[in-house]
Amino acid sequence: MPNQGAQQRHQGWSPDRADARRLALGVAQASGLDEIIAADTTLSDVDGEAGRLTIRGYGLDELAGVWSFEEVVHLLFEELFHPMPDEKLLKRALGEARVDVFARCLPSLASLARLDVYDGVRAGIALMPDGDDLECALRLLAAPGVLAPALVRLTRGQELVEPEATGSHATDVVRMLTGDSPSPALAGALDAYFVTVCDHGLNASTFASRVVASTRAGLTSAVLAGLSALKGPLHGGAPGPVIAMLDAIAAYGDAREWLRLSIARGERLMGFGHRIYRVRDPRADALKAVLRRLDARGAMRARLALAEEVEQAALDTLRALKPGRSIETNVEFYTALVLEAVGFPASAFTCVFAMSRVSGWIAHAREQRMTGRLIRPRSRYVGPIAAT
Ligand code: ACO
Repeated sequence: MPNQGAQQRHQGWSPDRADARRLALGVAQASGLDEIIAADTTLSDVDGEAGRLTIRGYGLDELAGVWSFEEVVHLLFEELFHPMPDEKLLKRALGEARVDVFARCLPSLASLARLDVYDGVRAGIALMPDGDDLECALRLLAAPGVLAPALVRLTRGQELVEPEATGSHATDVVRMLTGDSPSPALAGALDAYFVTVCDHGLNASTFASRVVASTRAGLTSAVLAGLSALKGPLHGGAPGPVIAMLDAIAAYGDAREWLRLSIARGERLMGFGHRIYRVRDPRADALKAVLRRLDARGAMRARLALAEEVEQAALDTLRALKPGRSIETNVEFYTALVLEAVGFPASAFTCVFAMSRVSGWIAHAREQRMTGRLIRPRSRYVGPIAAT
């Protein structure tokens, strides 16, 4: 009876004994690794008390809607790849990488399209050779932007639209999705979104990438780890459910009651709360500014008005039902509206997040490889103790 034996041995374990050993080792422990510093980085800093995001010395407000995605990628990759081309050449090389990825994946696209779009993008990226150089990095940077539009079109029964090597990444992504050259406003909205979410400290997916990079596996392996971590609804999977929530509230008619019932059922409101921010996520405001610029064209006035009403009702409800928790709007709430306005289906929202965050994963993987050690934390054993 192995279970009986395990139960008897288990009686020998006690939290006090485990804690004493942990303290003797001088090992810090925290559920969810809160407050644990696991890497030094020069890439980005999240100040959760002040609600400030810094990327390589620039505040988010200096970058979003001002710098292009390619310029910010150059900023992130600087000193991590040698030689590093100038910004213009990097933009062109990224365009050529889109063409290269499309050619490599074309024979597999029909079978990838049978998967959920996120899983299809991940499987497509797994086809890329592993490596550590800039050529490999640019292929990985290009890949989600090529694969997601192609898979969305195939599932809709539409013809594929091939990438173009010239032009900006955001413009080409929208063109591959819709088949038309986007207006500067729409391409600019996606570009500003890309800049807003490119990197964000040691979040779960970036940590996953750094762990894999610390073993000296290549960039493709590190990016696949990041992609897998991003998928979950507590991280990058929230914006799709935000659209479902807005639609459900619009149909129900009473936002406050809908939200109250949802929390009473023990559900989490998607697009609210953050492990680090105790105040409003600054990326939410950056994306709201993007929406206001689109709204100036009258394209989505009613949608934004509904979102603002729901946001206020959600914040009031969370304050009332989760007192003392500081649960504020996070980046995912307005992400959903920006990506909906650009024309992506909700099923592909997390892929669009990955199109940008892949730049952060690559930069962190390179940084870890160049300056860090193997990441190997300890676990606390709470199981049965051995008889001998
Ligand atoms: N809605 C309702 N309650 C919430 C929410 C929310 N969005 N967020 C946190 N809480 C509550 C929890 O239920 C818990 O309450 P309890 O103590 O009464 O049980 C309390 O706040 C603390 O929850 P934790 O899980 O410990 O908080 P954590 O710091 O891990 O939360 C997280 C961070 C996972 C993002 C959480 O706020 C959440 O689930 N939000 C909804 C999903 C979401 O928007 N994800 C995107 C995050 S942004 C990004 O990753 C890019």
